[in-house]
Amino acid sequence: MKKEADRSEGDINISDLRKKWQKKHLHSSVKELLERDAEYFIHQSLSTPCLNVLRAAKGPFIEDTQGRRYYDFHGNSVHQLGYGHPEVLDAVKKQLDTLPFCPRRYTNHPAIRLAERLAELTPGDLKHSLFAPGGTEAVGIALKIARLHTGSFRTVSWWDSFHGASLDSIGVGGEGVFRKYAGPLMPGAIHIPPPGWKKNNNSPIEDPDYLEYIIEREGQIGAFIAEPLRCTSVKSPPDGYWKRIREICDRNKILLIFDEIPLCLGRTGHLFASEATGVVPDILVSGKGLGGGIFPMAAVTVSEKIKIPEESALGHYTHEKSPVGAAAALASLNIIGKKSFLENVKNLSKLATKKLEEMKKEFPIISEIRVFGLLIGIELEKHGEKAVHEAEKILYESLSGGLSFKVSSGNILTLAPPLTIKEEELSDALKILEQAFKNTV
Ligand SMILES: Cc1ncc(COP(=O)(O)O)c(C=O)c1O
Repeated sequence: MKKEADRSEGDINISDLRKKWQKKHLHSSVKELLERDAEYFIHQSLSTPCLNVLRAAKGPFIEDTQGRRYYDFHGNSVHQLGYGHPEVLDAVKKQLDTLPFCPRRYTNHPAIRLAERLAELTPGDLKHSLFAPGGTEAVGIALKIARLHTGSFRTVSWWDSFHGASLDSIGVGGEGVFRKYAGPLMPGAIHIPPPGWKKNNNSPIEDPDYLEYIIEREGQIGAFIAEPLRCTSVKSPPDGYWKRIREICDRNKILLIFDEIPLCLGRTGHLFASEATGVVPDILVSGKGLGGGIFPMAAVTVSEKIKIPEESALGHYTHEKSPVGAAAALASLNIIGKKSFLENVKNLSKLATKKLEEMKKEFPIISEIRVFGLLIGIELEKHGEKAVHEAEKILYESLSGGLSFKVSSGNILTLAPPLTIKEEELSDALKILEQAFKNTV
């Protein structure tokens, strides 16, 4: 019997609705490409077999091989600047022509400049950085630093969280779809319910107090790792949560690690999402959009007070001080770091909120709308239950209309528009979504 896949991280690829959509929309030549993809790639629930084949991406759009364009409100969270931003492309091309790679033992100007910029732009006393070719590697580095600095291998993190797909990251992550078949995971990784988790709709567990309880039982904890707010489900801890966690961490010498991989660089209307929490983490992990939607690039930036033995090897990834990645990141920070850029995100956020509030009145299936900058969660419920089937139908209706996004936890439509989207494009995309609701519910 085929097991039902876990939908917590995103919509899955084995559903009947997907097959129906493909049958209706894809030419035989595209089907053939998908078959070749499926023949030679390892199958897994969040990628192969794939939905469709892309041939181009520009601005807020991705384009398939049949020439259909879709607003990309998913973009794996790399697309703060949309696709092919001219300033980023220009910086990358110039860098490719001069120094395309930097072997270990050497450093280079763009990498040094990026480390300086991160020290300037990240909050509080965050200063020293290490770069990595991907978010999950950066999370691994952060966990190693916490072990070395505190002498404790124990971590506390949220159930249902995602911090990357490598074996160390799924240990602190809490998503069944990654953990289920992995066998023994990292020792000492303790999980607590995410804020807002409710048993039978009763009062939420007071997680900060639960952290103290764990410390009493288990002894020294090295790190508390979490996203400042959950990106996929678009759920934020209640007011005061982070202040209380910060206070417990300080008192117990626990490092607070904020995983900002999908949230950094303007997504929430702040350059770093931590800025809205009222606390400064000891370690901030950034990634995804840091590479300007072009280059794999992530960074761990740590507080000045963190001390680790200089002889330790923490990252040492082949593409660590990538001049091309650093050039892409510097160009991106240049654009996003401008006050007017973030103000525009806030204005677009207001526009989206207004439209979505109207839709909430029109479609009672929408139980909640959560908006942080241009990260939007639309939660769907029917008779008090998750409206999983309807959410998936709305996704495929939207794709038919030219809008792509992610469905999280089965019933949350997660919209992450490029931050460079124009007002009229945002309105147009939300009209596609509205029409999808009209056709479905
Ligand atoms: C919160 C969070 N942490 C870590 C990662 C892992 O990043 P990467 O895919 O670059 O390894 C992701 C990726 O989706 C993420 O959303």
